[in-house]
Amino acid sequence: MSGVCQGKPSSLPTSPSSSPTHGQPLWLLAELTYKCPLQCPYCSNPKDFADFSEELTTQEWIKVFEEGRKLGAVQLGFSGGEPLVRQDLGELIKAARDLGYYTNLITSGVGLNEHKVAEFREAGLDHIQVSFQASDETVNNMLAGSKKAFQQKLKMAREVKAQGYPMVLNFVTHRHNIDQIDRIIELCVELEADYVELATCQYYGWAYENRQQLMPTRAQLERAERITNEYRVKLAAAGNPIKLIFVTPDYYEERPKGCMNGWGQVFLTVTPDGQALPCHSARMLPMEFPNVREHSLDHIWNDSFGFNHFRGYEWMKEPCLSCDEKEKDFGGCRCQAFMMTGDAHNTDPVCSKSPNHDMILQAREEAETPAAEPFLYRNERNSRVFCKG
Ligand code: FES
Repeated sequence: MSGVCQGKPSSLPTSPSSSPTHGQPLWLLAELTYKCPLQCPYCSNPKDFADFSEELTTQEWIKVFEEGRKLGAVQLGFSGGEPLVRQDLGELIKAARDLGYYTNLITSGVGLNEHKVAEFREAGLDHIQVSFQASDETVNNMLAGSKKAFQQKLKMAREVKAQGYPMVLNFVTHRHNIDQIDRIIELCVELEADYVELATCQYYGWAYENRQQLMPTRAQLERAERITNEYRVKLAAAGNPIKLIFVTPDYYEERPKGCMNGWGQVFLTVTPDGQALPCHSARMLPMEFPNVREHSLDHIWNDSFGFNHFRGYEWMKEPCLSCDEKEKDFGGCRCQAFMMTGDAHNTDPVCSKSPNHDMILQAREEAETPAAEPFLYRNERNSRVFCKG
């Protein structure tokens, strides 16, 4: 097991290589806290999250929201950890709504109750996404590391609908639950979800550590996609407006995803302790990212090294540099390139043109033989293993 925070020294320069044109940060993700009552082994939070405990205050967050709106951000997601842990969540939602954001709460539902749902509605929250681990109570609770999680999620999903919210249900799928995709969809129909994200696990943070235990086989994946397509047809014919979104894992692709719609183009994440990132996983990269306690979002977005370095194409190596698909996929995911090859400038190994694509092929092969090792759960004790401090 290799910890990213014990990882490689920075090989990156310390000043921007270029200042290519870029848009505005349309999507602001406020990771309010790394605290979470659950312990999902596929969490994308940094493995060394226990090192970062000094959370932004209410006023510091509101300042971030104000600066984000001035830069043109229109959508604000509250996530974590579990954002419900923050006692000022209602106040933050109200501040964001007053500034004109479309607001979205991304929650496990654990810690939610009918009073909070009503309070958030009063504060102007637009939209709630509740995540489940499985359609089966035993599997759900095994993955969440909590005996009560499933019943609580069911109750809260019903409450969210009862109070008139549009609701997204999110299921991260992997080898332990993907064969129950039909039951997952049936559960979503029963709970009257408006949107369902059937998102095959992507391997970042804790999920990367647990990849061998999580990665489905190609046959599992193809079956799940086929069943989802059949349900789409069946539900549409029955007049059910539910939308099923099936997200395939890039480990089974031959071309990489255009991660984040391009580095520093649309997304801006702020971590619980104020670090500003172009994507939620970038904290692992061996490079400097600015903190909102020290810099304005304007400076961070437009002038900082962390946001400028992977904009445009000048940073690219071959085969990306001369590739005629680079404007579509930007060389893939910088975090994935770093995790797998140790250099974030490399082509994402998902790409079949990458000299490191054999790593992906090997992961596919390993998926055919389930790992006997137990999960490394995402919790504070396990996080300490990866911490520097
Ligand atoms: Fe960071 Fe893809 S997750 S660039």
